[in-house]
Amino acid sequence: MGKNLLKLSDLSTDEIVSIIDRAEMFCQGTDIPNFSDKIACNMFFEPSTRTQYSFNVAELRLGMRVVSFNPGASSLNKNESIYDTVKTFDSFGPDAIVIRHTQNEYYNELLGHINAALLNGGDGTGNHPTQSLLDLMTIKQEFGSFKGLKCVIAGDISHSRVAHTNYEVMRRLGMEVVTAGPDEFLEKTLDREDFDRAVETSDIVMMLRVQHERHAETMNMTVEQYHKAYGLTVEREKRMKDRAIIMHPAPVNRDVELADCLMECPRSRIFKQMSNGVFIRMAALERAVK
Ligand code: NCD
Repeated sequence: MGKNLLKLSDLSTDEIVSIIDRAEMFCQGTDIPNFSDKIACNMFFEPSTRTQYSFNVAELRLGMRVVSFNPGASSLNKNESIYDTVKTFDSFGPDAIVIRHTQNEYYNELLGHINAALLNGGDGTGNHPTQSLLDLMTIKQEFGSFKGLKCVIAGDISHSRVAHTNYEVMRRLGMEVVTAGPDEFLEKTLDREDFDRAVETSDIVMMLRVQHERHAETMNMTVEQYHKAYGLTVEREKRMKDRAIIMHPAPVNRDVELADCLMECPRSRIFKQMSNGVFIRMAALERAVK
């Protein structure tokens, strides 16, 4: 049976580094395995562009055959549970199942009942292991290592599985991580810093999307007010350190958390993150099915 990838806190730092190294080899076009005898199922119960389709491309680059679940045209509409739906796909005998679901730790009820390797494409506000791995790969390409780097994660922290996953793993790798944003978006247990100070002292400014779909009520301010107070504006970008980079897991609300013109500016690694996502997902799939 292959290896699950559910949350990064299950992995040692050596395992994390070896997945990134493998992804780097795939990025160079080296030693790409042929898994044409393997089948992957992608089960995205929640909307996804980057994670879903880069997993799909990664599977194709490894020669895998792929079945994609369409929740809108499934028996979920007949009230079938996530457990029964995933168990159904597993009974078809795939080698790997990639899942995204709105429920935190949806995978706990599946463990021990599924034969395929499970790869988590995001659970609620909990974990997003392949996103963090692609973020780390992007940081390693830029700075060579992790220790001593400072990252500010800014914006909608409390709803963000990306923030939660990165905060833990980056600290474990010896980085300084602080959070910034409006009080109602931050968490008491995470270190915070004034956003302007953090922008001027960080090597990585990681902006997060305001997750309107997860807010029970709409924000207490206009998008213009949000941009001015907590967004990476053109003016703030000028005060970043010389070699500092901008990251964002995307989708981006342009001119809300990030000024429109910064999306593809020289400091931005946003599309690089997306390209790296394919190689990281190839490495995660290899680990899962080999
Ligand atoms: C993020 C997600 O869905 O967790 N996007 C992604 O996977 N690249 C972040 C978001 O939706 O804002």
